[in-house]
Amino acid sequence: MSPITRYFLYVTLLLPFLGHAENGSQLWLRYVPVEKSVVNKRTIDLRATHAMAQLAQKELENYWAGQSVVLKLDKKLTRLKEGYVIKGNISRIELVAAEPVGLLYGAYHLLRLQEMGEDINHLQVEEIPDYDIRILNHWDNLDRTVERGYAGYSLWKWEELPHQLSPRYEQYARANASIGINATVLNNVNASPEILTSHYIVKVKALADVFRKYGIRVYLSANFSSPALLDGLADSDPSRKEVQDWWNTKVKEIYQHIPDFGGFLVKANSEGQPGPQDYGRTHADGANMLADALKPYGGVVMWRAFVYNPSEEDRAKQAYQEFVPLDGEFRDNVIIQIKNGPIDFQPREPFTPLFGAMQHTAQMIEFQITQEYLGFSNHLAYLAPLFKETLDADTYSAGEGSTVARVTDGSIWRHKKTAISAVANIGEDTNWTGHHFGQANWYAFGRLAWNHALSSEEIAREWIHMTFTGDADFVKPIQQMMIDSREAVVDYMMPLGLHHIFAFDHHYGPEPWGDRKGGRPDWMPWYYHNADTAGLGFDRTTTGSNAVSQYSEPLRSIFNTIETCPENLLLWFHHVPWTHSMKSGRTLWDELCFHYDRGVQEVRGFQKIWDKLEPYVDEQRFSEVQSKLKVQAKDAVWWKDACLLYFQTFSNMPIPYEIERPI
Ligand code: GCU
Repeated sequence: MSPITRYFLYVTLLLPFLGHAENGSQLWLRYVPVEKSVVNKRTIDLRATHAMAQLAQKELENYWAGQSVVLKLDKKLTRLKEGYVIKGNISRIELVAAEPVGLLYGAYHLLRLQEMGEDINHLQVEEIPDYDIRILNHWDNLDRTVERGYAGYSLWKWEELPHQLSPRYEQYARANASIGINATVLNNVNASPEILTSHYIVKVKALADVFRKYGIRVYLSANFSSPALLDGLADSDPSRKEVQDWWNTKVKEIYQHIPDFGGFLVKANSEGQPGPQDYGRTHADGANMLADALKPYGGVVMWRAFVYNPSEEDRAKQAYQEFVPLDGEFRDNVIIQIKNGPIDFQPREPFTPLFGAMQHTAQMIEFQITQEYLGFSNHLAYLAPLFKETLDADTYSAGEGSTVARVTDGSIWRHKKTAISAVANIGEDTNWTGHHFGQANWYAFGRLAWNHALSSEEIAREWIHMTFTGDADFVKPIQQMMIDSREAVVDYMMPLGLHHIFAFDHHYGPEPWGDRKGGRPDWMPWYYHNADTAGLGFDRTTTGSNAVSQYSEPLRSIFNTIETCPENLLLWFHHVPWTHSMKSGRTLWDELCFHYDRGVQEVRGFQKIWDKLEPYVDEQRFSEVQSKLKVQAKDAVWWKDACLLYFQTFSNMPIPYEIERPI
C-alpha cells in the first residue's frame, strides 16, 4: 500500500473515530495549548517545590495565554484553607495559597476565566471552599457493575490493578481537581467486605497514588460485618475487644499503604446491610468503634442516616427517630451523612428534617448525581436547581436563616470537619456520564461543594462555555433549557409532591399501580400516593403520620396547613380531595393533568431548541443529545399517560380538553 493510500485510509477510517472519542471525553477541560510565541513572552514563576504546585505550574505553562503568573505558598494564610488569592494587573498575576493544592485550584480558576473570556486585567479574587471534604461516592462493585450507574462499567479496572493504570484514572482526578473535588469513595455503600482484604488494599493504593497528585484522598465503604466475614470472628459486635482489635489492625494496614487515607463510609442497618443493631448496639457504638480506629491517623467516619424499616411508622420519619436521640454521642471524627430528602433522591422532596436537629453532631448532605429517579442517563435533567433547593432551604433550627447549607458548613455549629457528598454518575462510557448533559451535574456538584452561594445559572453558563461554546446565541437558550429541565422532569413524573411511584426496583418508568404480593409495603407505590376516590397524597399532618412535627416552626405549621403548604409539596404532606381548589383556580385533578402535560410540552420544546442549535455543536454530540431527547419525549408521554389514566380510575373526572389526549 502506498503511503498516500495509507494516509487516505487513515484519514477516512480512523479520524472519525478519534474525533468521536474526543468530543465527549474531554468534559469541560477543553483548554487550547498556548502558542510558542506566547510561551516565549510569558513566565510562569513557581516559588514552591511541592509536586502539586509543580502541576499547577505545568497546567499554566501549557494553557495560560495571558500575562506572567507568579505562584507562591504562604503557610500563614490558614484562613484560606485549600483556597487561594489571585491578584493581578496587566503585566503580572500573583496566585497565593496556603496549601499546594490551593495553587492547583487557583490555576484552574485562571484557566476558567480565560475560557469564559473574562476580564483578567484587574483581578482581586479570594476563594475559600465552603466545605473541607468535597467527596464523590461511587456505587461501584468489585465486579465492575455500578449500582444505579448508567454510564457503563466502573472506571476502576480491579483485575488490572495495581500493575496497570488506565489513563482515565488521571483524567478523572484532573477533572475533579478542576472543580475542587478533593475526595472519593471508590466502592458501593452496599459494600463487599473483600475491599478490605490485603489483595484489594494494594489496588486501592495504586489508585490513591494517582489521585494524590491532584489533591484527592481515597475513602472506602466498609461492610460492618467484615471482621466476621473476612477473618472468621464469631461476630462483629463493636463492644467486643477482639472486634475492635480487628479494626485497629486493619486500619493500620491501610495507612501503611495509603498514609493519607480518608476514612470509611458506612451503610449500617439499612436495607439489609449489617450493623451494630444486630448486636443490640447503637449507631453511635458502631460509628465510634471505627472512629477510634481511624483517629490516630486523622481519618473520618461518614455514617449514613439512610435507615428505615417496614413498620407502622412513616418511612419519612424514621431516620430522625433513630438518630436524634444519639445527638452528642458520636466522636468528633464522625459525620452523619444524610440524603437531601427523607425518602430517597426523588425528583422533588422537602429537605430531611434531621438537618439542624442534631446540634452536637457533625452532619453532611448526600446528593445523588446519578439519575436513579430522574430518567437515568436518558433524560436531560440539570440538577443544580435541585441541589440549590435543598442547600438554600431554611431549617429554622437556629432561627431564621439556618439553611441546610449553613447547618452543614460549620457556620452555625462548629465541628471538626465539614463535608458534602454526592453519588457519582461516572462510568466507563467515552463521555463519562452516558448523557453529555450528565457532565453538567458532576460539574455543578463540584462547584457548589466549593461555593454553595453560586447560582444554578452561573454554573450552567460556565459549563456551557467550557463544554460547547461561548457564543451567546447558543449559551442563552441552552442555559434556559438546563434551568427548566429539572422542573420538566418533576412535571411529567411526579408533580405537586407526588413521590416514589416508580416501577419496582429499576426506578425508570411509572408504575403507580405496582403491587408485588408479599413485597415490602414501604416499597410499593400506593404506600406513597394513597390514591382513593376521596383524593390523592400522603397525609403527614398532625392528624396523619405527623411527620410535620419533625420540622421547626414556622415550617411545621406551614407544611401542616393545606392553605399554606407550598403546592409543589402538597401531596407530600396532605391527602387532598380531587376537587380541592388550587391557587390557579383549577381543581386538584385538573392541576395534575396540567402539570403532566406541561412536562411533556417542555421536553418537546427542548427538542426544538436543540435542533435549532445544530450549527454550534459537533455532529457527534449533536446527534447523541438529539437521540436522547427523543427518548425523553417518548418517556414523558409514557409517564403522563400512565399516571393520568391510572389516577383517573380514582378521580373519575375527565381529562381537560386543553391538554394532549392520552395516546
Ligand atoms: C436507594 C437505591 C439503592 C441504594 C440505596 C442507598 O434505595 O435504590 O440502590 O443502595 O438507595 O442509598 O443505600
